[in-house]
Amino acid sequence: MKNLLSMDDVTNEEIMTILQRAAEFEAGAKPQLEKEYFVANLFFEPSTRTKTSFESAERRIGATVIPFDAGFSSVLKGETLYDTVKTLQQSGIDAVIIRHKEDAYYKKLLQGIDVSIINAGDGAGQHPSQSLLDLYTIFKEFGKFEGINVTIAGDVSHSRVAKSDAIALTRLGATINFVCPPAWQGEYEAHHNWDELLGQSDVIMLLRVQHERNAAYEGFTVETYRDQYGLTVAREKHMKKGAIIMHPAPINRGVEIDSELVEHERSRIFAQMKNGLFIRMAIVEHILKGRG
Ligand code: CP
Repeated sequence: MKNLLSMDDVTNEEIMTILQRAAEFEAGAKPQLEKEYFVANLFFEPSTRTKTSFESAERRIGATVIPFDAGFSSVLKGETLYDTVKTLQQSGIDAVIIRHKEDAYYKKLLQGIDVSIINAGDGAGQHPSQSLLDLYTIFKEFGKFEGINVTIAGDVSHSRVAKSDAIALTRLGATINFVCPPAWQGEYEAHHNWDELLGQSDVIMLLRVQHERNAAYEGFTVETYRDQYGLTVAREKHMKKGAIIMHPAPINRGVEIDSELVEHERSRIFAQMKNGLFIRMAIVEHILKGRG
């Protein structure tokens, strides 16, 4: 695998290879890079989890991280993303991890650039490293994907996590349901109330209401959204035995999930973040080793 751009391009076999390597890292395995590699993290949109966990992962596997601050780069002077990445290539960078507001920004980089590209989120497109850590979290919990019922609730149309997870989980044999307001279902069929989903789902994954992408629909208020679509303390009591709660975070506490549930015994939200470190170690090692 030269790049990690979209879950459409990652085979089930590659997914399981990365999950297996993440499990090895979690168990204390040593990294296997046999030469020095240089990486840079280009975040043109805000990030806490993805940026810090990629940087921690890169350092832990022995890659050299070259600092790049999008807010103090020549992008502010009008340099294109292509010219920026080509410049880093000329500086000896082997891989870039990019988050960008534009959907599929990476298509502009595929011709003429030799640096490996790891997509850390493209607009409302995809978020493959989040998807892989979500898969790792589910696999650790249930030991399989086949037959697992996953309900994804919230701002589906603006969510790159929902798209990446739906592609990968469906291909791996899980059943996906969406619950959201009609204005947020995008290309998917969706339920518009929780009804039987609470008692059937093995995984309930909440999505953040993305105010920065003008997500609010006519009539949206935080209170009505929470009442109709939020995972409330009352709704948790109807969840299936053994079912877990996930959320890619950051969280709007009291909007898509009640604050009391964030560290509830069913919640794997902070575990997801820890799993993200091992998954990103596996991703970056896999891609750098593949460069030879
Ligand atoms: N889940 C996620 O992508 O979080 P950040 O925006 O903090 O990176």
